[in-house]
Amino acid sequence: MTVAQSRVAEQALLRESVPTPEWTGFNVVPRGNHAPGPRAVNTREGVLDRLRAVAFAELQAREAFYWASEQFKGQAPDTCLRAWYGLGLAEDRHLNWLLRRLEELGGRLDERPVSDQLWVSLRSCKQADEFAHKMASAENRGRIAGERFVQGMKPFDPISAEIFRKIAEEEIEHIRLAARYFPGSSFADPALG
Ligand SMILES: [Fe+2]
Ligand SMILES: [Fe+2]
Repeated sequence: MTVAQSRVAEQALLRESVPTPEWTGFNVVPRGNHAPGPRAVNTREGVLDRLRAVAFAELQAREAFYWASEQFKGQAPDTCLRAWYGLGLAEDRHLNWLLRRLEELGGRLDERPVSDQLWVSLRSCKQADEFAHKMASAENRGRIAGERFVQGMKPFDPISAEIFRKIAEEEIEHIRLAARYFPGSSFADPALG
């Protein structure tokens, strides 16, 4: 089977229960490929790369929370499903902060490729607790990276740095919520308390 054929097969599989979102405006690499890494954090290009990449992560998280709030009906308590929908709205807010800043700086969404591996991975979850753990661990990785961006970016672009700081702060609550509904998991960062 050629690479192109296997991609088609993979996408058909993903379409079975829910379509892959269109990711309008982003330049998404073919499945299985990596997106290029960001440029230096203390340059305009490096700030734009991080705004773009994190915006795309927020968009994938938003879609995944909306999907999970429907997909796991009957498996997770209704309060959890509603909370996931609410987190989808929170990710949408994060997305818009980042997009607005990217626009203010004159950046373009499609200037550098991004990968939708996060969505593929979250969408592959068969159980509610698996989704909660995977999402919380992705959010925790994002939170740690975000805090690093804040330090690197602050002297160069304090306005963008503040956006990343606020997002990292809010992700703490998202991770705590997963731990509340699905306790006893290994994803929780002890530093979060
Ligand atoms: Fe977020
Ligand atoms: Fe989040």
